[in-house]
Amino acid sequence: MASVYETSMYHRLLGKVALVTGGATGIGESIVRLFHLHGAKICIVDMQDNLGMQVCESLGDDTNVCYFHCDVSVEDDVRAAVDYAVGKFGSLDIIVNNAGVSGWPCPDIRDADLAEFDKVFNINVKGVFHGMKHAARVMIPSKKGSIVSLSSVASATGGLGPHAYTGSKHAVWGLTKNVAAELGKHGIRVNCVAPYGVPTSLAVAHLPEDERTEVALDGFRAFVARNANLQGVELTANDVANAVLFLASDDARYVSGLNLMVDGGFTCANHSLRVFK
Ligand SMILES: NC(=O)c1ccc[n+]([C@@H]2O[C@H](COP(=O)([O-])OP(=O)(O)OC[C@H]3O[C@@H](n4cnc5c(N)ncnc54)[C@H](O)[C@@H]3O)[C@@H](O)[C@H]2O)c1
Repeated sequence: MASVYETSMYHRLLGKVALVTGGATGIGESIVRLFHLHGAKICIVDMQDNLGMQVCESLGDDTNVCYFHCDVSVEDDVRAAVDYAVGKFGSLDIIVNNAGVSGWPCPDIRDADLAEFDKVFNINVKGVFHGMKHAARVMIPSKKGSIVSLSSVASATGGLGPHAYTGSKHAVWGLTKNVAAELGKHGIRVNCVAPYGVPTSLAVAHLPEDERTEVALDGFRAFVARNANLQGVELTANDVANAVLFLASDDARYVSGLNLMVDGGFTCANHSLRVFK
């Protein structure tokens, strides 16, 4: 029999209902698996239906996990996803606005493609706002809830990604602060999590499809390790999921408006003067 300590360790979301966007793979999948371990009922939202359904099946528990096809950049899809989760599980306590794209690298602003810029903002900013809006719609009457969005180290520092990506992640933090300011009076907390580089498909999405291999991911791992502030530890999707779990759970019951950096100090240390390196 599990000890009281073990039970509380693994049931930090017992009885809670969560919706995770972009939950079919990468960081979102890790969040889904960790939330499941902690007793949550979860609605996975994504556009990669096969992968999303595989995650459900691998958890082997069709009563507590479901999948819903949704493009977060389309408000009606997000409205329908939230209504589906509430219809299936009876409420919504947590939304994780995780779905996001990096967009194509463009080292010269004169070549910037505005259609690409719109695409990144539609998913990364409007997608997050749709999630905040429709989660708030069902959370306000119950006077509680936790909204967690994925920002990035690019929400705080320039030069870490394409203009649209950096702008979109600054916007996620801005929305987080503003929505936290509005929803505090309803007992709803709003936060975001800002990871440093994690080896997921997003990290190699800018490469031609046949080059998105394990070797490319190893190259990404080595690159982020070289440029990290914290040495000797590799940031994984599970580390990010743990930060999301903290903010989603009652452990963070008085935390709102925070952009929680999961970056080993990357955004607060600048080693270009080589004082410590
Ligand atoms: N991987 C990193 O290094 C890193 C670093 C900082 C922040 N982030 C952020 O973390 C989040 C997750 O990234 P990841 O690395 O797991 O990426 P990923 O590409 O591995 O997974 C993203 C998921 O979002 C889904 N998605 C994309 N567009 C969608 C849409 N319009 N509607 C619904 N679902 C959609 C994808 O199908 C995929 O399952 C993103 O917001 C990303 O910006 C990632």
